[in-house]
Amino acid sequence: MSRELYERAVAIAERAYAPYSNYLVGAAVQTRDGKIFEGVNVENAAYPLGVCAEKSALVKAVSEGYRPGDIAGIGVTASPCGGCRQWLYEFRIEEVTFLNGAGEIVTHSAAELLPETWDLPA
Ligand code: THU
Repeated sequence: MSRELYERAVAIAERAYAPYSNYLVGAAVQTRDGKIFEGVNVENAAYPLGVCAEKSALVKAVSEGYRPGDIAGIGVTASPCGGCRQWLYEFRIEEVTFLNGAGEIVTHSAAELLPETWDLPA
């Protein structure tokens, strides 16, 4: 499953809108009930307003009714940025598969990617 999600992310990356960085990123989310939502990074002339591929894929899943705990995995063509790691943690994603800085495809849980983060008190 992880490798397949990564391949879906690679395939969708060409739809990224990244005229400022020219760094095209794709992401593919798989829900526990088997649906796949894809996303790409979408940049803006006001640079900080750009959206990462992971977020755009997750937003699609959420707008279709999925919630934290409903998402089994995500494949990404880049190592997730710090902000996206927080998003991945929010959704309790157990398999995050991406191309790391060493050029290897690796899988980690969101919790592993954001060690010792906090949780709001219940
Ligand atoms: N980017 C992503 O879409 N996901 C990541 O996890 C890493 C960074 C995008 C943001 C920006 O559009 C471009 O890559 C360069 O940072």
